[in-house]
Amino acid sequence: MTLNGAKMIDLPKTLDRRGNLSVVEEHKNIPFKIKRTYWIYDVPGGEVRGGHAYKENQEFIVALSGSFDVILDDGKERKTFSLNRSYYGLYVPKGIWRQMQNFSTNSLALVLASTKFDTSDYIYDYVLFKESVK
Ligand code: TYD
Repeated sequence: MTLNGAKMIDLPKTLDRRGNLSVVEEHKNIPFKIKRTYWIYDVPGGEVRGGHAYKENQEFIVALSGSFDVILDDGKERKTFSLNRSYYGLYVPKGIWRQMQNFSTNSLALVLASTKFDTSDYIYDYVLFKESVK
C-alpha cells in the first residue's frame, strides 16, 4: 500500500428523512484509540494549514462541512485527497508529511487524533522529515 497505509475510510451512514447520521468508533472504523479531537474552522480563503509531520500521532480527518484538500507525502510519493462529504474521512498514519489547503467558505475539518497534544511530536522541517523516513 502506498503512503504507509494512508487511506480514505467510508463511515456508516444512517439515512433518515429527518436527517442523516454518520459515526466513528475507535478500533472499529479507524485503527486507533482517540485521545484528542480538534477542528479547524473560519479558514480565510487561500490559507494553508499543516505543513508538518508527526512522529507518533495518527489522525482521521473528516470534512464535516464544505471541502478542502489534504496533501500527503511519505518522502517518496505525494498524493492529494479531496474531502467534501461528512460520511467518509482520511486516515493519516504517523510519519507522513501533510498539508491542508483549498478550504471552501465555511468549511469545517474535524480531526480525531491518537495522541495528546505534544509539540515534541511535530517535525516542521521538510529536510529533517526526508532524513527521518530514509
Ligand atoms: P498546528 O497543529 O500547527 O495546526 P495545523 O497543522 O492545522 O496548521 O496547530 C496550530 C496551533 O494550535 C499551535 O499553536 C498549537 C495549537 N494546538 C493546540 O494547542 N492543541 C492541539 O491539539 C492542536 C492540534 C494545536
